[in-house]
Amino acid sequence: MAKKVRVGLIYGGKSGEHEVSLQTALAVMKAFNYDQYDIIPFYITKQGKWHAGAPLTAPPEEVKQLQYEASAAGGDLVPVLQSLQPGGGAAEGKALDVIFPLLHGTYGEDGTIQGLLEMADVPYVGAGVLASAVGMDKAMMKKVFAHEGLPQCIYRHFNRTQWTKDPAFFIMEIEVSLGYPCFVKPANLGSSVGISKAKNREELTAAIELALRYDRKVIVEEFVDAREIEVSVLGNDEPRASVPGEVITSSDFYDYDAKYVDGTSRMQIPADIPADIAETVREMALRAYLAIDGSGLSRVDFFLRRSDNQLLINEVNTMPGFTPFSMYPLMWKETGMPYSELLDTLISLAIARHQEKQRLTYS
Ligand SMILES: Nc1ncnc2c1ncn2[C@@H]1O[C@H](COP(=O)(O)OP(=O)(O)O)[C@@H](O)[C@H]1O
Ligand SMILES: [Mg+2]
Repeated sequence: MAKKVRVGLIYGGKSGEHEVSLQTALAVMKAFNYDQYDIIPFYITKQGKWHAGAPLTAPPEEVKQLQYEASAAGGDLVPVLQSLQPGGGAAEGKALDVIFPLLHGTYGEDGTIQGLLEMADVPYVGAGVLASAVGMDKAMMKKVFAHEGLPQCIYRHFNRTQWTKDPAFFIMEIEVSLGYPCFVKPANLGSSVGISKAKNREELTAAIELALRYDRKVIVEEFVDAREIEVSVLGNDEPRASVPGEVITSSDFYDYDAKYVDGTSRMQIPADIPADIAETVREMALRAYLAIDGSGLSRVDFFLRRSDNQLLINEVNTMPGFTPFSMYPLMWKETGMPYSELLDTLISLAIARHQEKQRLTYS
């Protein structure tokens, strides 16, 4: 029998998306074929403590089993990192072949964990440092999209210091260039946390203050009355795009509750859109992916404006929701790639990227 691939799963984490990450980890653990893979869990608590669990011989039943306590090996990052390294700390033949970081949001898909894994010199699934960081920072991401010539909504951005010095200036600028309603977002966060729709000056000020609680940079966008179309992208330098899907939500916007709590949104895969628009969406998704230097996977989200059917790119998510019931895997399923094959592909892509990097000259 071929040697089993040892996959380290990192999940939990300090971000607001800790619980989502746990759910994803459970789903991924259940989907792996244990004849082909050994799964080694690495749980990061909400306080940022690392706990390595023993290799799993069978998938766990519930999330509670994934939340290793301080008694388990770890707590301190250094020994955990050593155990991640090929041959380092791990017994002969027990080194990890690849790491699958399943962390969303801050410290998860923003390039920080990716940097750590680069330092440890271990292959890992998903976007690298640069693409993760760009994909996480909405202001930076928009600049890259603009440079690529991708259409997007009108926006303004500023930091806390700028805002504090002259709030009246930014209010005026937003009112003149964007008008009401407008969308206010922390530049660096996901899952709609800290995002609000402002309908007047009072709400705008409150929305900016709220967003500044989550990040020192804020972005304000014109309101786009649009359908929300998403595409899954998979690959390294020659990525493929899935069929597009649509998120249809009956709440005011696709906020945290609609995403995770109250089920007021549903997915339509494939999206019920004309074939030429579907083709444009896929082509734009690939351009956006290459523009941020993506690798592994990303979900690229668009607005399809109702008034004129104009496509506007909204964002790239380098670590999209990844349970078997999330948009990303479901769009691949519809395109002909089931969840377990998707996992296999992501693992191969991670190893291929690492091997390519090994061939580079560094001195
Ligand atoms: N400019 C906008 N116009 C209309 N709706 C928006 C706009 N920006 C965001 N939204 C709504 O808010 C949701 C979350 O915003 P998004 O920028 O995707 O943040 P996140 O990174 O948290 O997913 C979107 O899915 C959409 O429903
Ligand atoms: Mg979004």
